[in-house]
Amino acid sequence: MRIGVLCSGGDAPGMNPCLRSIVRTACTLGDEVYGVQHGYEGILNEEFYPGENGTPVMGLRSVSGLSKIGGTILHSSRSKRFQTPEGVKQAAKILKKYGFDALIPIGGNGTLSGAIDLCKEWDGQIVGLPGTIDNDLTGSDFTIGFATAVDTAVECVDKLRDTAGSHDLMFFVEVMGRHCGDIALATAIASGAEIAFIPEAEEPIDRIVKKLTKIKATGKKSVLAIVAEGDEHGGAFAIQKMLKDAGNPFDSRAVVLGHVLRGGSPVAADRILAAELGNYAVSALIQGENGKMAGKIGGELTLTPLEECVKEHRRVSGDMLRLLQIVAS
Ligand code: F6P
Repeated sequence: MRIGVLCSGGDAPGMNPCLRSIVRTACTLGDEVYGVQHGYEGILNEEFYPGENGTPVMGLRSVSGLSKIGGTILHSSRSKRFQTPEGVKQAAKILKKYGFDALIPIGGNGTLSGAIDLCKEWDGQIVGLPGTIDNDLTGSDFTIGFATAVDTAVECVDKLRDTAGSHDLMFFVEVMGRHCGDIALATAIASGAEIAFIPEAEEPIDRIVKKLTKIKATGKKSVLAIVAEGDEHGGAFAIQKMLKDAGNPFDSRAVVLGHVLRGGSPVAADRILAAELGNYAVSALIQGENGKMAGKIGGELTLTPLEECVKEHRRVSGDMLRLLQIVAS
C-alpha cells in the first residue's frame, strides 16, 4: 500500500513524532510512505519530502530523531487552491497519477473538512489524525499538541505571576483557541489563575468587575486572567480596556502568547499520543477503513467518521469550569 502523509493548518508539537510512528509502522508492515510537503498545497505542487535513495519513499532512517522535534519537517500550509472544487479534483488526479492508495492528513478542523471533500473525488482511503493545539475536535479527548501548548502557556503564566505579585498588577494573558476555550481553561487551572475568559462561558463585563472588586476586598494584590483568543469580548487587549472603563479595581497589563504556544519540543503526553495514533491510523487503513479520524476516547483508540469530527467544535467540560471556580476562589 502506498500511503501519503501531510500536515495542514496550524502546526502542532507532536506532528513529527506522529510522522515517525506512521513511517515506522508502515515500514514494519511492508507498506510505503510518501511525505507530502506543505499540506494539501503540496499535493497540487507535487511536492514530496526527499526519501531514501533519491525516491520519495520514506524509510526507517528518514524519521530518526523526530520524537523530540517541534513543528513539522513536512511543513504545513492553509491552501486556498485546495478549498475550491477544482483544486480538490486536481488533487485527486495527482494522487491517482502517483499511485497513492491512502492518505493520512494530520491537522485540525479545516484539514479534516478538506479530507471530506477529497473523499468525494478520490477513490483512495483516508484516515485523518487530530493534530492541533486547540483541542477542539469531536472524536478524541485530546488532540496532538494540546498538552505541550498548555505546558508552554503555564510556564509563561508562572513568570507573569512573579511580576504581577511584585507590582500588584492584574494580567490578561491571551492564549490561542479560536473556537474552543480548552487551552485557556487548562492553563488557568494549572497556573492558579483567578479567571478564564472562554467562548463557551459568556459573562457580562459589569459582573466581572463586581467579581474583581470582591477579590480585591479579600486582600488579593495580584490577579491573573487567561483569555481564549475566541472569547466573545475580543481578546486580551479588548477585555482589558472594557474592564478598565467599567471600573476594574486593579491596574492591569495585557500579553498575547499567540504562536509561542505552537512551538517547542513536544511533551511526553503528546509524543505518546502521536505514536499511538500514527500506528493506529496505518493499521486502520490496512484493515480497509476510510473517511474516519483516529482518536482516543476514554483511553480507547477509536475511529470516528470525519463528518462527525468537524460537525461542531468540541465544548470544554462543565466539570473543568466548575473546578476552576472552586480552586480559584
Ligand atoms: O488552528 C490552530 C490555531 O492555533 C488557532 O488557535 C489560531 O487561531 C490559528 O491557529 C492561527 O493561525 P495562523 O498561524 O494561520 O495565524
